[in-house]
Amino acid sequence: MKAIILAGGAGSRLYPLTQISSKQLQAVFDKPMIYYPLTVLVASGVRDICLISTPDDLPRYQRLLGDGGQWGISIEYREQARPAGIAQAFLIAADFVGSSSVTLMLGDNIFSGGDDYPRAISSFEGGATVFAYRVKDPQRYGVVEFDRNLKAVSIEEKPRQPKSNYAVPGVYIYDNDVLEIAKAIKPSARGELEITDVNLEYLRRGTLRVQRLSRGFAWLDAGTSTALHEASTYIEAIERRQGIKIGCPEEAALNRGFLSIEQFEALVAKMPTCEYSDYLRNVADEWHRLMDEQQ
Ligand code: TTP
Repeated sequence: MKAIILAGGAGSRLYPLTQISSKQLQAVFDKPMIYYPLTVLVASGVRDICLISTPDDLPRYQRLLGDGGQWGISIEYREQARPAGIAQAFLIAADFVGSSSVTLMLGDNIFSGGDDYPRAISSFEGGATVFAYRVKDPQRYGVVEFDRNLKAVSIEEKPRQPKSNYAVPGVYIYDNDVLEIAKAIKPSARGELEITDVNLEYLRRGTLRVQRLSRGFAWLDAGTSTALHEASTYIEAIERRQGIKIGCPEEAALNRGFLSIEQFEALVAKMPTCEYSDYLRNVADEWHRLMDEQQ
């Protein structure tokens, strides 16, 4: 399984913050927003990642994330000249995807709790898997309608009169057919290649699986200043209460075995003294304690 993180877009709802940096590089509490979706991928065992962003912002992502080798993964970069729709990611990164299946993640989607994604990604067998999450304001999203047997019967993009409260979050898992499907769809009335049209094609073929996310799962969308602030507050509250951090790629890479404890400690040693590196040092101490106990 490969993965694409889409981190372009105009970010107009976050003006003037997005005058200085892309939306997905803004801080969500103590880390850049992009760390959250990236960590979900690492925790899911995905090692081959392609990040797509605007020509202006791409160098900033490269500076922050490098080639991914520090986390035992590989990150490639591609440009999206203008925001022509989420499904365009598959045209831009077709050579990266090759003959593989692929997970697409939106760089401004923040998740916490549950292992729904790692499970879905590691058990993926074909077709498409998308998710459904109950929200109060579904009209801002793609909305799924289910029949009595909880089978998805329709998906509508930003409907005025939603047929359910179930929105589709920005994580989509596809088999390789997605390349051919994305090539065939036409721009919508708003001039974008819509991801909902890709999902509708899988629905038409009878190979779309819509998985409802469990109740304890949090999906935060940081698209407006208020939502960004709320996401920071939420992450801060959970981290303080539990003493764990959400969205640390280093920790996920250690847990996945992408980094040995020696590599992990060497990485942390290069960081300045700060809350983030203090936390990672505690993770390493905990790791050693657990190993000692097992012996
Ligand atoms: P949106 O939130 O729909 O758009 P945006 O981020 O440009 O924000 P605004 O509406 O405030 O102008 O995009 C969802 C995500 O997908 C976000 O992470 C940006 C990304 N995206 C792209 O990278 N390229 C695109 O062509 C589109 C449409 C979105």
